[in-house]
Amino acid sequence: MIQCPRGTRDFLPDEMEKRRFYENKLRDTAKIFGFREIETPIFEEAELFILRSGPNVLKELYAFKDKGDRDIALRPEMTAPAIRMFVNGMSNDPKPVKIFYFGQCFRYERPQSGRYREFFQFGAELIGKAAPESDAEVIGMAASMIKSLGLKDYKIRIGHIGVLRQRISDAGVPAERAAEVLQKLDKKLYDEARPLLESMNVPGDSIDDIFSLTETVGGTEVLERIPGEAGDYLKQVTGYLSAMGIEDIEIDLGVVRGLDYYTGMVFEAEAPALGAEKQICGGGSYTLSELFGGEKVFSTGFAIGFDRILLAMEKEGIKYDPAGPDAYVIPVDDGLRLKAAGIAALLRRSGVSADIDLMGRKMGKALKHASSVRAKYAIIIGKEEAGSGSVTVRDMNTGEQRTVGDGELADFIKNS
Ligand code: HAM
Repeated sequence: MIQCPRGTRDFLPDEMEKRRFYENKLRDTAKIFGFREIETPIFEEAELFILRSGPNVLKELYAFKDKGDRDIALRPEMTAPAIRMFVNGMSNDPKPVKIFYFGQCFRYERPQSGRYREFFQFGAELIGKAAPESDAEVIGMAASMIKSLGLKDYKIRIGHIGVLRQRISDAGVPAERAAEVLQKLDKKLYDEARPLLESMNVPGDSIDDIFSLTETVGGTEVLERIPGEAGDYLKQVTGYLSAMGIEDIEIDLGVVRGLDYYTGMVFEAEAPALGAEKQICGGGSYTLSELFGGEKVFSTGFAIGFDRILLAMEKEGIKYDPAGPDAYVIPVDDGLRLKAAGIAALLRRSGVSADIDLMGRKMGKALKHASSVRAKYAIIIGKEEAGSGSVTVRDMNTGEQRTVGDGELADFIKNS
């Protein structure tokens, strides 16, 4: 038997219905915040990601040569494609440009619970304005999205990559090697970061200083300890968030992020119940457009790991009940199949979802099937009723039955 490739999944109808339901909830929230949906190709020129995505993502890239000898990569994330699209076709649009996307991304990782080779991101980018208010807008939207899904146990941590970048540079780390150091700090691999920094001749006390900076964590009061403009900037971000009613955030200068393009505020959301792969959302402010041939434009955004957030919801016991059709049409014998087809068509034309018995089941079995597909009503097409232009409607919850005229049937179901 051929299985789907390692790290990928099939989504069966029940799962798919649930995913669409929650995906649309996220879409609704994005629209409420004034963002508009885009779609970009699933594969891109590999260079798009090689330019700035950072070592974490690069070693996980699904890259190959196509038949025209082009270097192609499946997208590992959607910020670079979104900014490429902006540079190609939207750079003259009034700012800020507010866009969102939902789609699959590909990373060649070691699969485990919550970590896949094909996974889905729901993300948003606010392009054209770097200011505390824009950062608060995207953090606020991410928080509203997580809330809208009903998740309770999660934490949002906000940091500022500029502080750490500055400290690393002051300690003598050459600019082109900063990413290596940040990558270790992102994963909290202090045992590996120390020899790496020592090999760059960074003195021991500067190393301790860098490490202790990444451990600056707490409520907004820790902002007093954050030096320079970054502290003031984050105070303004949290001020806006507070005005928006979002107080349950933590300041954490240890938020480093695995991608290279961030320049200022960075944030992550995690669901502790997920264990090792607990990060459900990540984002921050960055510039990328100048790398893709456009003008330098400041942007800020985030992506929610859709698969992970669904796992976290499952862990919290949030249940999704897939809906069945409004009606399940059952002819009592073969002579009534044409009438049954007509009734199903009539309902569908009126916007009532209707399924029909195609297997020729006997009434008892057909009713059982109607209940297993979670139909609200069974529409029983009997000989006598057919003669008088009516059908029997059975409420599948209560078992109550009544006769309804063909012409009133759709309205009866819609209004019930
Ligand atoms: P990221 O942190 O690399 O950021 O990915 C965002 C989210 O995608 C993660 O928080 C995680 O939930 C999910 N994710 C990542 N890898 C996997 C995987 N292998 N399996 C399942 N879920 C995964 C970005 O991609 C940035 N583009 C976010 C961004 C948008 N920053 C600014 N704008």
